[in-house]
Amino acid sequence: MKLDVSSSQLSHLEVDLLAIPVFQGKLDEAPLRDIDEALNGRLAKLAELEGFEGKEEQVLVYNPDGKLGAGRVLLYGLGPRADFVPPDARLIGTAAIRAGRGCKAKSMGVAFPRVAKGRTDAVLEGLACGLVLGLYSFDTYKKDSKPSLLEEALIVSRDFTGARRRTAKARLDWGEKVGAAVNRARDLVNGPANDVTPEHLAQVAVDVAKEHGLKVKIRNRAECEKLGMGLFTAVAQGASHEPRFIHLRYEPAKGKALRTVALVGKGVTFDSGGLSLKPPKSMEEMKCDMSGGAAVISAMAVIAQAKPPVRVHAVCAATENMPSGHAYRPGDVFKGMSGRSVEVLNTDAEGRLTLADAIHFVAKEGVDEIIELSTLTGACIVALGKYTVAAMSKQDDLVKRVLGAADKAGEDIWRLPLTPRIAKELKSEVADCKNIGGGYGGAISAGHFLVPFAGETPFLHLDIAGPAFSDTAWGVNPKGGTGIGVQTLVEYVTRTVPEKFGKKK
Ligand code: BES
Ligand code: MN
Ligand code: ZN
Repeated sequence: MKLDVSSSQLSHLEVDLLAIPVFQGKLDEAPLRDIDEALNGRLAKLAELEGFEGKEEQVLVYNPDGKLGAGRVLLYGLGPRADFVPPDARLIGTAAIRAGRGCKAKSMGVAFPRVAKGRTDAVLEGLACGLVLGLYSFDTYKKDSKPSLLEEALIVSRDFTGARRRTAKARLDWGEKVGAAVNRARDLVNGPANDVTPEHLAQVAVDVAKEHGLKVKIRNRAECEKLGMGLFTAVAQGASHEPRFIHLRYEPAKGKALRTVALVGKGVTFDSGGLSLKPPKSMEEMKCDMSGGAAVISAMAVIAQAKPPVRVHAVCAATENMPSGHAYRPGDVFKGMSGRSVEVLNTDAEGRLTLADAIHFVAKEGVDEIIELSTLTGACIVALGKYTVAAMSKQDDLVKRVLGAADKAGEDIWRLPLTPRIAKELKSEVADCKNIGGGYGGAISAGHFLVPFAGETPFLHLDIAGPAFSDTAWGVNPKGGTGIGVQTLVEYVTRTVPEKFGKKK
């Protein structure tokens, strides 16, 4: 899809579909007003008949029958203006794509909504990102896949002329890049575990590194053992696919690094539960257990292109969690790189073991802070539902920054407390800790388990178990993998960190 801005008059724009965003109760405002004038008010009349008021996610498709340049018009409801935030613009993009599919559109125009001047750039990014996200479909494994017919999309406003046109186009390019990274993460999550193996994830990381000029190092089982990653390799024991420890690094120009950030993603390519086997229903979606790893690898592709003054390490300890004669057992005790011993009482609490070594590894690299994403607990879904990521950290300032970035990126993150009493439940009779807690507050218990492995390094854990994978389409997300986390990580590294730690002007 070719994406551009246009300053054409809406009523003259020759496209197969013209999408018009409408704030609730604002049917008499531009941009809708501009085209309805050309239609002698017919569209407003139809809207009234059909009960279209511009409520959130409300749609109305209209056939202008040759009275406009456009073949079809889509009205898309944005809800009350006071509630609108720039990332909501993504919904306009995805809705336009959905309607475009319905009328087999090859070209489309999206009218720029009437928003406050200061929000124009963020809304442009959102529109572009939403279009790209809307185009996503996972059909790698289908014989008769129907590729999108869309060739061109134009974002239309009278203001996009001269220098403004160029800056607007740059915002579209950025939104498009972010969307493409989210889609890449979705592909990895949706890819079945027989193909998306640790080896495959490592290959994708190598490809990303080659394409965008990142440093990359992949370690195999023996190399991880040599580094003392006994917790990660314990999980990998039962798997026949070889584990891979993936390490990507983005290095800014000499002397330019304001800060060093580590991103860690859980990379369990399939979670059967191991010997503490999951029941079949719970296992169905467990190819999604590398969503954190997919997010950090994909985010690195955009970070490399944005070239922020921030050094970034991205790490993913990739393995399957399988039962076999070689598999680790409940009752086994292992020591990881940090020297802290862990009594394994449930082999299905495997994510925290792989992460413990990954987190300790980056802490030893001497980073300023660690942000880790994982589909870590079913308990987190019980606590917050399917649409919200949980954040846990002892560093309030780090939480504040990341939640701020998530707000701008339009991903929903809510902080959970690291209740001290829940930490006590991880005490073991035979080792320094055990890998499961008391049963209640399971998301928090898992958070507590991870904290000591970061040592003194500020650490933030994001449990993405809820939003990583969906059995329904919602918001900008299709069914299946959502690519959650990519947008927040990109926003955080490329904008939040440079803003907070850059020299004040
Ligand atoms: N990968 C799962 C968590 C999960 C569940 C992710 C549902 C996405 C959807 C994790 O490895 C797991 O099995 N956690 C256990 C922990 C328990 C054994 C303490 C869980 O949540 O049941
Ligand atoms: Mn598990
Ligand atoms: Zn898991």
